[in-house]
Amino acid sequence: MSEVKFIKLTRKLLSKRDARDKIKMAYKKVFEGPPWFEKWPLELVEREIKSWEDNCAYGLIGMNCTKIISFIVCLDREINVERDPISWKGPYIQEVGVVPEFQSKGIGSDMVRKFLSEYKRGEYMFRTINPVMIRVFGKFADVRKVGRDILDEYPDRFYYSLAYQHVSAEMYKYYER
Ligand SMILES: CC(C)(COP(=O)(O)OP(=O)(O)OC[C@H]1O[C@@H](n2cnc3c(N)ncnc32)[C@H](O)[C@@H]1OP(=O)(O)O)[C@@H](O)C(=O)NCCC(=O)NCCS
Repeated sequence: MSEVKFIKLTRKLLSKRDARDKIKMAYKKVFEGPPWFEKWPLELVEREIKSWEDNCAYGLIGMNCTKIISFIVCLDREINVERDPISWKGPYIQEVGVVPEFQSKGIGSDMVRKFLSEYKRGEYMFRTINPVMIRVFGKFADVRKVGRDILDEYPDRFYYSLAYQHVSAEMYKYYER
């Protein structure tokens, strides 16, 4: 496996221009890559990073030499929940990503393992429709999904307190190729 060093994500780190730019590039690469293929102009990424700062995000950044290649970002509460059927008051894992060329090498798993051992804040909530992500979380925690009724109503949204499972057919198709 490639050598990766994990460092803490802090406000101080985000305030450093060079680190911030590298985090932005890593974020863009992750979500413009598989399986999402979204469009992330840098101004939008900057807005995202600003919201981490404003909400006192914490987590880890993975470094390979001087490159930032992964991140896990957690908030003490979920943001943007206006239309959310779940009211979750505890820590919320907002983002997890490994840049495409470093994916599937065990880095995501190592990062989550390290994160959970560094920050012991009880139960975490996260949501994802990426089966690889569900698999990663499922390795380290007893992941519980929320009530059936919510999954029926929002079939593409998952709420876990650290993962399981009801993955969209489309996402499976991608991984079955
Ligand atoms: C989800 C993600 C963080 C996982 O990190 P990773 O380093 O790629 O994952 P790992 O190499 O640790 O693999 C984790 C498990 O998934 C499996 N896996 C990895 N890539 C896979 C793939 N493409 N297809 C199927 N299974 C895969 C691995 O075999 C491993 O399982 P195992 O330990 O039981 O063998 C990373 O793939 C990613 O950044 N994806 C895009 C962003 C994303 O969807 N983030 C999720 C939040 S929305």
